[in-house]
Amino acid sequence: MDLDKIEAVEGHQLRLRLVQPEDAAYIYDLRMNPDYNSYLSPVSGTVADQKRWIENYKTREMAGEELYYVIECLNGQRCGVVRLYEITEESFTWGSIILDQNKPRKAALEATLQSMSVGFDILKRSVVKLEADNRNDIALAFYRRFGMSETGSDAQNTYFELTAADFNAHKDALWTAVKKHSKPIDKKHDRTYGSVTLVDLPVVTDPRGDLTFLEANNHVPFDIQRIYYLYNVPVDSERGGHAHLELEQVVFALSGSFRMKIDDGVTKQEFWLRNPRQGLYINRLIWREMDCFSQGAVCMVVASKPYDEADYLRRYDDFQKQVAKKNDPLS
Ligand SMILES: CC(C)(COP(=O)(O)OP(=O)(O)OC[C@H]1O[C@@H](n2cnc3c(N)ncnc32)[C@H](O)[C@@H]1OP(=O)(O)O)[C@@H](O)C(=O)NCCC(=O)NCCS
Repeated sequence: MDLDKIEAVEGHQLRLRLVQPEDAAYIYDLRMNPDYNSYLSPVSGTVADQKRWIENYKTREMAGEELYYVIECLNGQRCGVVRLYEITEESFTWGSIILDQNKPRKAALEATLQSMSVGFDILKRSVVKLEADNRNDIALAFYRRFGMSETGSDAQNTYFELTAADFNAHKDALWTAVKKHSKPIDKKHDRTYGSVTLVDLPVVTDPRGDLTFLEANNHVPFDIQRIYYLYNVPVDSERGGHAHLELEQVVFALSGSFRMKIDDGVTKQEFWLRNPRQGLYINRLIWREMDCFSQGAVCMVVASKPYDEADYLRRYDDFQKQVAKKNDPLS
């Protein structure tokens, strides 16, 4: 299996990327949420069980038997999951799709096109099988509208198939519908106050190893005036807990992984950094906290200014006051 091509699939407003153990809490919350799980097989246990499930799944992924994707917006915001499984020489089964409240318009259509394209265009399988609970009117309508052929039903489920030829005949029109009715999400740096964006760096791959580089005012949207890194971080350590008035930063996990909890004063988001080729751009007036450091994690931060204690907001209420001032400069 060509792991490079299936690892991440980028589209108009969404990216599918293979699930990681760090996604366990996100997936657990999705699967436990009654808004989404009525017609899915029940999940029991804890986040730790979900993590173990993902770790076991990774051996099936390596064997080319199953691909489980997190669906995220191009700015890195997760909005769902989808799975290809029972992958045989000829066919694959598609399902477990869930989209949450962060989905952009036409996300179901785009994520289905992307994941089907993995099965048909990359894995070169000739037919996909899927099923939906007979009570799941939304999923049934969506599959029929997509062009899936009904192959049968029983007391619980309706079964569908779609051939590669049918997929290829319909996919351009479906992509046109995605592009016509959805707004592309800008994955480049949004430098308005209070924004965060994932930054992808180039990689030069060579049998001797991979090389990644970053350039000021190109991959990083400012003049770099300071670089620092954290290492030997105890796994139970928590760092951060502050915001900056003017400083902009891009944070990378050069090795290992950690979680960044981001808060713009209104919305809270979580990002797991684990890929040395991808950093998180954090603009001014963002409250950030870091935890869940893996063993041996190395965190590198490139910053737009030298250290200045006066630029720090170390109390959450001071941060909130600054956010309120920004939103209403006359107050
Ligand atoms: C099943 C699920 C993923 C479908 O997603 P959804 O967003 O509800 O799907 P919709 O039918 O509303 O389709 C999404 C959009 O694509 C559009 N669309 C769907 N099929 C289309 C087609 N063939 N051509 C053009 N547009 C289409 C819809 O009009 C809708 O547009 P909008 O975003 O502007 O409203 C979602 O409902 C979900 O997560 N359900 C809970 C979990 C679940 O039951 N999963 C299925 C297991 S079998």
